[in-house]
Amino acid sequence: MYDMLSKTIFGNTIRNAQKSHLNQIEAKKRIVIVGGGSGKILLDLNQLGLELDVIYVELSTSMMERAMAIQPIINLNVEFVCADVLQMELPASDVIITNFFLDVFTEPNLNAVMIKLAAALRPNGIWLCTDFVLTRKFFNDMLVWAMYAFFRVTTNLEGGRLLDFEEYFSKIGFQCIVSKTYFNRMIMSSCYKRT
Ligand SMILES: C[S@@+](CC[C@H](N)C(=O)[O-])C[C@H]1O[C@@H](n2cnc3c(N)ncnc32)[C@H](O)[C@@H]1O
Repeated sequence: MYDMLSKTIFGNTIRNAQKSHLNQIEAKKRIVIVGGGSGKILLDLNQLGLELDVIYVELSTSMMERAMAIQPIINLNVEFVCADVLQMELPASDVIITNFFLDVFTEPNLNAVMIKLAAALRPNGIWLCTDFVLTRKFFNDMLVWAMYAFFRVTTNLEGGRLLDFEEYFSKIGFQCIVSKTYFNRMIMSSCYKRT
């Protein structure tokens, strides 16, 4: 349902946005994907043609089952972990990927999640994040609000409104090194590093 709705409204934009900065990833790195959903990101990572270790963390069992069925995955060594990221031990990693994930959380939990993910990222690691952003344009913000309301019902999101992730990244000592906007600037894909 979630995939169908996002595909209907945004076409391939969501998938393309998530691919924006995958070229920053180098071979033999360990990647933690959190809240990966049904797992299409695995196909995009596989297409890089690099040997990569992936830890795939997803709370929903049905999403996890779909992700585990994704084929063909020949270049990745994937460990699937069906868990709440706040309740598990995260391994040290070189890359973190959070796509349409941070907007799941309310403010206090967002802080906790971001601090936890940052602590698991190695000093020179990169954090790839794609999410909705508020544009202060009525139609855009209404559409984001509607998508958000839908996500909340279908994937048990706890967050009630879109937060300014840029500010949160800055608070935990990260800066954006490259970013790209999509769909009338409603979607932003960024690559962050420690300052
Ligand atoms: C809005 S969906 C985004 C899915 C996917 N990344 C995409 O871009 O299509 C958010 C995902 O995060 C998962 N999720 C929510 N809370 C989580 C948590 N605490 N730990 C791990 N995964 C979580 C949900 O089950 C859902 O699949």
